[in-house]
Amino acid sequence: MSVHQSTHLKRITTHILQEMKKRKEKISMLTAYDFSMAGIVDAAGIDMILVGDSASNVMAGHETTLPITLDQMIYHATAVVRAVERALVVVDIPFGSYQGNSSEALRSAIRIMKESGAHAVKVEGGAEIRESVVRILSAGVPVMGHLGLTPQSIYKFGTYTVRAREKEEAGKLLEDAKILEECGCFALVLEKIPAQLARRVAEAVTIPVIGIGAGPDVDGQVLVLHDMLGITQEFKPRFLRQYADIRNTMLEAVGKYIQDVKSADFPNEKESY
Ligand code: KIV
Repeated sequence: MSVHQSTHLKRITTHILQEMKKRKEKISMLTAYDFSMAGIVDAAGIDMILVGDSASNVMAGHETTLPITLDQMIYHATAVVRAVERALVVVDIPFGSYQGNSSEALRSAIRIMKESGAHAVKVEGGAEIRESVVRILSAGVPVMGHLGLTPQSIYKFGTYTVRAREKEEAGKLLEDAKILEECGCFALVLEKIPAQLARRVAEAVTIPVIGIGAGPDVDGQVLVLHDMLGITQEFKPRFLRQYADIRNTMLEAVGKYIQDVKSADFPNEKESY
C-alpha cells in the first residue's frame, strides 16, 4: 500500500532546493522550535525550517547553544515536524553529540531522523568533522553544513564578531565549503562573514548557500524567528532585520488582560455560561 501526502502542497526537497539555486530563486529559511510557531511559519510559505540549537538561547534562556541536549533537540523537532506540511525541516545536531567520533555522529543523526521525522540534520565545522559528515550521509541522511561563526565553538573564538576577515581564515572557509560539497552535503549555512567572501563561496559550490549575516549574494537567508519577530529584544546585530514588535504587542495585550481581570471587566455576561 502506498502512502501519499494528505495535502495538495508540494513538499520542499533537497532536490527542489538545488533547482532553486540553478534558476537563481532565493531560498527562505527561519528557525522554529514548537508546533504553534512552526505551523504559522510553514503556512506563510517558508522553504526551510531550522530547528536550531539556538533553542538553547531563545527557548531555554541559556547564554550559549552548548547546554541543549540531543533529547531536547528531538523534543523540539518532533513538535515542529507535526505542524509542517510543506517546508523542509532541518535539525541541528547539538554540541557533544557528533564531535567525539563518526559512530556517535551517525547514532545522533539516526535518532533525530527516526524519532522526530525531520528531513535533514545540520552540523557545524569543515575538514575536522569530514568523517562524521560522510558517515551520516552514507546512512542516507541529508546533511547541511555550517561555517563561519559557529556558535558551538564560541569558547574557542571568544567573541561573536565577524569571522574570516583575514586571508588565512577566509581561505580555510572556502576550502571547507568545497570539502562539505564533495562529501555530499545538500546545502551550507554561512554565518557572520564578509559579504564578498560569502559570494565567492556561493559561486564556488553548486549546493545552495544560506546566509545569516553573510550579505545578499548567497542563495538564501536564514534568521532566528524570535529575533526577526521582535520577541527577543536584547540581541540586535547589524544583520538582523526586525519585521514585527511582538514583545511589545504581547506586553500590551497581557497588560490589558491584567487590568480587565483586576477591574472585574473580564469575563462579562457574554463570556459567561
Ligand atoms: O541554531 C540556529 O538558529 C542556527 C542559525 C543561526 C543558523 O544555527
